[in-house]
Amino acid sequence: MATPHIACERGDIAPLVIMPGDPKRAERIARDHMEGVKLVSDVRGIGAWTGTFDGVPVTAMASGMGVPSLSIYATELYSQFGVERICRVGTCGGISSKVKVKDVIVAVSAHTNSSVATIDVPGVSLSLAASYEMLRGAVDQARRAGRTVHVGPVYTSDFFYSARTDIIPALDRLGTLGVEMEAAGLYACAAAHGKEALAVLTVSDHLKDGSGDLTADERETMFADSLQAAVAALKA
Ligand code: HPA
Repeated sequence: MATPHIACERGDIAPLVIMPGDPKRAERIARDHMEGVKLVSDVRGIGAWTGTFDGVPVTAMASGMGVPSLSIYATELYSQFGVERICRVGTCGGISSKVKVKDVIVAVSAHTNSSVATIDVPGVSLSLAASYEMLRGAVDQARRAGRTVHVGPVYTSDFFYSARTDIIPALDRLGTLGVEMEAAGLYACAAAHGKEALAVLTVSDHLKDGSGDLTADERETMFADSLQAAVAALKA
């Protein structure tokens, strides 16, 4: 069985999926952090790597960038491959002064300018929210690792380059922690299929002061901790 964007059998994909944005990152998660990995699908450069984390079967597969790309993969995984949980692991730009570069944000919910919040139920703007069990697993693990963790809403934008930077202060006043481009799409897909999802984000840059020039080493350390938090969320 194959879908338009995933070419493998249903059993080749684990029920738990770790989902970075970048396909190269998915491959590195598989090669450097998982055991017994096998490339089970590779359509349009989006590899699906199935193996184990501490004996638990997991598939590492990228979302690509933005809600439309993520929605394709998440929909096919939830609806055709028996996937129960997807954890996005990625980066975001800081919006709130409470968050600093290198902090971890666990997205309890996602505001968005994408139509995913308004298209399914006419006249209603949906609350796109994380799985509580996954959220608790990720927060506990990140705190155990000694990281500063913020739990709150993020803003999922359809635009990396937007002329409407004037809306950011309003989102900040409403407690929005950071901006990225996929979480709302993931939470909408999970809701649509009765499944679970979470986004664990590392602050890679800050919109207020332009900070965020991280060294390669800093990026790797940051990433390893948020990966462990994401894996804990999948297993929770
Ligand atoms: N905007 C959108 N996505 C992002 C950003 C940003 O500033 N930083 C990291 N991911």
